[in-house]
Amino acid sequence: MNGKKLQAAKRAVEYVRDGMVLGLGTGSTTKLAVDEIGRLVKEGYDLVGIPTSLETERQARSLGIPLTTLDQVEAIDLTIDGADEVDPDMNLIKGLGGALLREKIVAYHSKREIIIVDDSKMVDVLGVRTPLPVEVAQFSHIKTKRTLERLGCKAVLRGGAAPFATDNGNFIYDCKFNAIEDPTGLESKLNSIPGVLENGLFLGLANCVVVGTDDGPVVQTKR
Ligand code: A5P
Repeated sequence: MNGKKLQAAKRAVEYVRDGMVLGLGTGSTTKLAVDEIGRLVKEGYDLVGIPTSLETERQARSLGIPLTTLDQVEAIDLTIDGADEVDPDMNLIKGLGGALLREKIVAYHSKREIIIVDDSKMVDVLGVRTPLPVEVAQFSHIKTKRTLERLGCKAVLRGGAAPFATDNGNFIYDCKFNAIEDPTGLESKLNSIPGVLENGLFLGLANCVVVGTDDGPVVQTKR
């Protein structure tokens, strides 16, 4: 499995050009791509990164990748990030690593978003394999959970009795829907719930998906 992640990561980094502003995603697959980006910096590439999590920030610093913030740049040239599920339209579920809020802001402001996954993440319909992570304010989060469940899911507080806190100090509910037949409709319902700060549906944000397979990396791009 790690071999497939590595081939996807290396293939995606081939799109990096000298002088780029890069969005640096989060997760075990992206970690391999960030290692490769660190190698390019050591070779003399003039790159600057915008990390989507404290974990990625630590890794990038340890590799000597120069960092900046989104507010200091006009736009991001290219972001490389992982995903938990990818459907045939390149819509995604993200956030099992807990960084969905920053990842979505970075994806939105990126000229190009390349998603790197192994082939186990490819699905026909979102929601069949993983729950949908939803980041919520700690304030009244049990009320928010009940509201989420009225949308037809089972919502489980990540971390249980010792809740996981995101880099932004919020909680995550992992919402099991089984199959999400109307992701656009669900996203707009989620966005209308007070207390919901972000959800892991990334719709229309990916331009390219690199899939690690037994036969090598397969690149899918949006027409
Ligand atoms: C982080 O919040 C997530 O969106 C990750 O990008 C996603 O969970 C994929 O992670 P892996 O590459 O570790 O599977």
